Amino acid sequence: MTLTRLPSWRALAGEAEALAGVHLRELFGRDPDRVAAMHLCACELLVDFSKQRLSRLALDLLRALAGERALPARIAELFAGELVNSTERRPALHMALRAATGDVYRREGRDLVPEVLAERQKLRGFCAAIQGGSWRGAGGEAISDVINIGIGGSDLGPRMAVQALAAQAQPGIAVHFVSNVDGADLASLLARLDPARTLIVVVSKTFTTQETMANAASALAWLAAAHPRASRADLLARHCVAVTAKPDAAARFGLPPANCFAFWDWVGGRYSLWSSVGVGVALAVGMDGFEQMLAGARAMDQHFRAAPLTENLPITLALVDLWNGNFLGAETHAIVPYSRSLALLPAYLQQLEMESNGKSVDRAGHPVACRTAAIVWGSAGTDAQHSYFQLLHQGGRLVPIDFIACARADFPLDTHHAMLLANCFAQSEALMRGRNEAEARAELEAATSPADIARLLPHKVFAGNQPSTTLLLPALTPRTLGALIALYEHKVFVAATIWGINPFDQFGVELGKQLADALLPALGAAAIEAVEMSPSTRLLIGYCRDHAKA
Ligand code: F6P
Repeated sequence: MTLTRLPSWRALAGEAEALAGVHLRELFGRDPDRVAAMHLCACELLVDFSKQRLSRLALDLLRALAGERALPARIAELFAGELVNSTERRPALHMALRAATGDVYRREGRDLVPEVLAERQKLRGFCAAIQGGSWRGAGGEAISDVINIGIGGSDLGPRMAVQALAAQAQPGIAVHFVSNVDGADLASLLARLDPARTLIVVVSKTFTTQETMANAASALAWLAAAHPRASRADLLARHCVAVTAKPDAAARFGLPPANCFAFWDWVGGRYSLWSSVGVGVALAVGMDGFEQMLAGARAMDQHFRAAPLTENLPITLALVDLWNGNFLGAETHAIVPYSRSLALLPAYLQQLEMESNGKSVDRAGHPVACRTAAIVWGSAGTDAQHSYFQLLHQGGRLVPIDFIACARADFPLDTHHAMLLANCFAQSEALMRGRNEAEARAELEAATSPADIARLLPHKVFAGNQPSTTLLLPALTPRTLGALIALYEHKVFVAATIWGINPFDQFGVELGKQLADALLPALGAAAIEAVEMSPSTRLLIGYCRDHAKA
């Protein structure tokens, strides 16, 4: 049956209407046990969704909807290695990447775990050689700097995790990330590094991505210029490794098999952090730290697989998203970590959520009857408070927010962490509660003349009723970070399942890539008329050609 005709969907629409005029303050007032019913704990995380504009009935109906969409069976299929990526006829077994000895993940009957564990051992050996100084560059020097060259899923995950775990970084190796084809990215970094002590890691599932291959070629040219006596083969063997699902392409590039790490076709790019794609993380925090991150994610896998609907963190977060997007009409979803170390989490989640679920046809190719992924955005608090929070408080738009905070600081400085947490909790409280006219008046009366009260009153009122979820971690450790990321991964799967879409393909990114390839000649020597483009694009390219030389 069409999603929007399901009994639970229709009942949810009715409940949303019934709640339209009900303020969150009232929802708290009506139900003294609201918080007990609307928070969950698992894998060391606490998730409080009581500040969402949800009633208990709505929550029950959302859970009924999950049942009507056969969610438990779909989760079982995911873990069983069925071809959940239906368009590409592949399983999505990123959970196998964080498996421990004894776990079993099968693809077409074959257990994948032994090769995952063997690959992890290879990564451990590599990290030990780099960190221990036994891996030497072409000039005989030890490696001090590693550049991860990749983009999208081959960049965002490890980049985010390395920053998140900076407090636990081991001394010795500095890990850098270059993703953008803009020369400003690579060139500005190379200017600071010593080629004799630099190793590049080319991370690309396809080994064809334009930006990555251009950056890899330029980085190699820089290495070659600094090592005029080294052969290309020697330079590659000592200064370059790759993580790719195309070992043949890496071999054609000149890399020996020992320098290639596996990236399997049953892992999507944005789900690949847990494989050797996480090499930057392993180099930054050590292989043991990397494995703790895997263990945290594995704990979340087990929770997701086994916990009942009513206690299941990823399912609950997805249902809350669905409620906000499909029944309350929210267009966006802000992610605001009160952790400077998690500042890159919003960017990471943009790819995870929007590349996965930014779809408008279902698995059978029919239009989806409702909106899918929200526009994900956000940045770290407290900075966010001093830029866009004004709009959240008084702009009149519905913007659900995920606040993320840690009970303990990762970089302790006297008094700072309490201030950080106080700000986080104050924002969710203020956004929920708002300030009504009577409260604003009372506050003004204490210090203002009647004339000024009349003038200022409308400006001092806050509507409140802005929904948020707060996710708390005891501390930002590899383990809790792993659990947090896996929580969002599984949330994306749940939402996709209810919408009936495939979260594991991304055909929407292809058209632009094809056109970029087609337009490239027009930015060089080719006659601009020879390349097909709209008059608008012709104008833009013409301008750049005219101004190409200063
Ligand atoms: O932008 C599309 C995309 O295919 C992402 O899904 C992927 O993470 C990124 O490009 C990089 O791809 P690759 O790892 O093949 O270089």
